[in-house]
Amino acid sequence: MQSDQQSEKELLRHYRQLMEIHRRVGVERDITRLPDVVMREVSELLGVERSTLFLIDWETVQLRASFAQGVEGDAIVVPLRMGIVGTAILQRKILNIVNAYQHPYFNSGIDELTGYTTDSILAAPIIDDHGTILGGVEWLNKDTGRFSREDETTIAAAAQRLAGLIQQGRLDALRASTEMTVLHEQVGFERGSIFLMDNILGQLVAQHLDGLEDQKINLTVKLGIVGLVVLTNQTLLIPDTLTDPRFDSSFDNLTGYKTRNILCIPLHDANGDVLGAIEVINKSSGDFSEQDVELLTDIAGIVSIAIENAMLLKDGDKQFHSILEVMAASIDARDTLTAGHSIRVAKFADEIGRKLGFTDNDLDVLRVSAILHDYGKIGIYDSVLKKNGSLDSDEFAHMKQHAAITHDILNKIYLARKYRGVPLIASSHHEYLNGSGYPNGLKSNEIPFMAKILTVADVYEALTADRHYRKGMTPEQAILILEEGVNSNKFDECVLAALKEYLKQSDAET
Ligand SMILES: [Fe+2]
Repeated sequence: MQSDQQSEKELLRHYRQLMEIHRRVGVERDITRLPDVVMREVSELLGVERSTLFLIDWETVQLRASFAQGVEGDAIVVPLRMGIVGTAILQRKILNIVNAYQHPYFNSGIDELTGYTTDSILAAPIIDDHGTILGGVEWLNKDTGRFSREDETTIAAAAQRLAGLIQQGRLDALRASTEMTVLHEQVGFERGSIFLMDNILGQLVAQHLDGLEDQKINLTVKLGIVGLVVLTNQTLLIPDTLTDPRFDSSFDNLTGYKTRNILCIPLHDANGDVLGAIEVINKSSGDFSEQDVELLTDIAGIVSIAIENAMLLKDGDKQFHSILEVMAASIDARDTLTAGHSIRVAKFADEIGRKLGFTDNDLDVLRVSAILHDYGKIGIYDSVLKKNGSLDSDEFAHMKQHAAITHDILNKIYLARKYRGVPLIASSHHEYLNGSGYPNGLKSNEIPFMAKILTVADVYEALTADRHYRKGMTPEQAILILEEGVNSNKFDECVLAALKEYLKQSDAET
C-alpha cells in the first residue's frame, strides 16, 4: 500500500515535470535556443550528468549537437561518414548520382584503395516489412553514363528481394555475388556491392564488393551510438560502455571524460522521418531504468513537435524574406536608374527606428515596408519611369500613382498578422504632415508613424545617392533640405532628429 502510494506520487511528479517541459518548449520559437531550454530540464529530471540534442543537417549529412551540457566551446558536429550508400539508407530512399566526385556525401576511400574510378552511382536501402534497416545495395558506373528511371525500379526490386533473403537467413557471400552477377548484364553497370547493418557492432559491413573479392577487404563503417539510433530510428540503451563494441571512446579519450552508460532516443517528425536524437549520459545513481526510457521517450515526443514547429516557422520566415528579395530585385530591374534604392531606404529607416527605440518586431515591419515602398513603380510606363529629364504635369500625375499601386498590390498579398500594417505604411511614404502629400492627402496623425520614417529615409536616400546621370548631394545639403521640410510641416521633427543622430554617430565611427 505504502509503495503503491509512493509510485503514484512519483508518477504524478513525472507528469507535472513533463507538462512543465511541454510548456517551456512549446513557447520557444527559436530553434537555436530550444535545445538549451529542454536539456537542462532533462538532466535534472532523469538525474544524468550530460544530455545532448543532436539534429541532422540534411545538407551536409552531419549530426549537429545543439547543446552538449558540460562541454565547452564550439558545437559538436558528428559526421555520418557512410558515403552514398549510407546516405541512401539514412534517408530511406534511392540515390541516383551522375558524378560521384562532385557529390558531398561521396567517400572516395574505396577508390583510393583499389585504384578504381567511380563515376555514376545508384544506391538503395534494404528495408524489411517492418521498416527496419537491414543494409544497402550499390551499383557503380552505368555503361551509358547515368542510371535511368527503369534502373531505379530494378534496384528497388533487388533491394526488396535481398531483404527477403536476409530475413530468411539465406544471404551468404556466394548468393550475394550471384545476385549481383545476374543484374550486371541486365542493367549494364560495372560493379555492385551489398552492405549489411550490424546493429551489434554499430557498423555497415560490406558483404559483397565487385572487384574486391580476392583482396579480402572487410569494409566497415562505424556509426557511433547516435548515428546508429538515427539510422535505425530505434532507442538504444547502453548499460556499460566498457563492454559494448558500439561505443566509440575516442571522444572520451580526447576530453578525459568517462562515459559509463548511455540512453539515446531518436526524434522523428509527424511523417516518421528522423530529425535527430536525444542522448543522456551517466545516470548519477546506477543504471538507466525502464522508467527512464519511458520518460525520455515522452520527452522526445514533445521535443520533436517543438523542433518541427520551429523548423516550419523558420522555413516560412525564410520563404517570406526570399520573396521580398525577389520583389525588391524586380523593381530594380524595371527602374535601373534607381537600382538598390529600396534596400538603402530600408537601411536608413532601420537606423532611424533603432535610434527611436523600436523593438526587433517593429524594426522587421519597418524594413519590410521600406523594401516594398516603391513596388507600385512596376505599374508605371517606361517612358515616364525611365525618363532622364524632368516630367511634365501629366507624366508627374502618372508617376504619383505608384504609391496607390503599391497599396493595391501589397493588399492582395496574404501577410502574417505582424505585417498587416505594411500596405498602408509602404504606400504612405509620399504623405506629408500638412496634408499636401499623396495618394490620400493624409494629415499628421492619420499617417502611420513608420510611414513618416520612410518619407525621411526615402528623401534622404534620393538626394544623397549617386545616379549615373548626376552626383549625389552631400549629407549636409540633404539635411538642410529635410530641415526646410520640417519647417514647412512636411516631415516629422523627431524622425529627422533620429536620422541626424545616426549620421553623426556613423560619421564619428568612420
Ligand atoms: Fe516613392
